[in-house]
Amino acid sequence: MPTLGVNIDHIATIRQARQTTEPDPVAAAVLAELGGADGITTHLREDRRHIQDRDVYLLRQTVSTHLNLEMAATDEMLKIALDLKPDYITLVPERREEVTTEGGLDVAGQRERLIDFVGQLQRSGIPVSLFVDAEDAQLEACASTQAQFVELHTGQYAEAKTEAERARELDILTKGCAFAIELGLRVNAGHGLTYRNVYPVACIAGMEELNIGHTIVSRAALVGLERAVCDMKQAMRGVL
Ligand code: PXP
Repeated sequence: MPTLGVNIDHIATIRQARQTTEPDPVAAAVLAELGGADGITTHLREDRRHIQDRDVYLLRQTVSTHLNLEMAATDEMLKIALDLKPDYITLVPERREEVTTEGGLDVAGQRERLIDFVGQLQRSGIPVSLFVDAEDAQLEACASTQAQFVELHTGQYAEAKTEAERARELDILTKGCAFAIELGLRVNAGHGLTYRNVYPVACIAGMEELNIGHTIVSRAALVGLERAVCDMKQAMRGVL
């Protein structure tokens, strides 16, 4: 079974709704770990709409599993990443007007720039993951950047309207995972996964980590974060 990276961004979304100090994502990370999170994932966005710089620096000191920093491939973020030294970094596309990350990174379309960007991070000892759609050309481009990981975008799978569509998207993820491994990449996945749709993705051979946020924070609002994380681990095992 893959490990679970709990994305705590939306704890900060609640805080930022009132521009106040609660709830604190640093406390949320502790509770997520008590509930069984294998890692903590957080996205420092250019517009700072949820997670703030203060959060990532405190999380770096307090997270006792591993810290995965999601970020855009910009000069500002590179500077922060090299200073922060998270356990790994996931590069994601970012547009100010989007509600959430909308698609995979176009690695094939900006290969030269990403080779340099990934190289700077990995030479400083931070493994890099690239968030991409499970397409052969993108995966080949990822491998050519020397990034250690890819995170397969599960958004289309999560949004599938029919069983047939879901099965087709699962097949794309399964084949994408196998192809990425053949290329020498390690494979994570995430986006849009829920308690109801996570199990088939957790069963994909070779899948190492699932990064899941919104559904866990949503359940946490009703039942508490420790319980919500524990429930997700059960759902990944197919026993919820
Ligand atoms: N993985 C990546 C790269 C993401 O950008 C996000 C959303 O921030 C997630 C996983 C988690 O997605 P969700 O909140 O839908 O579980």
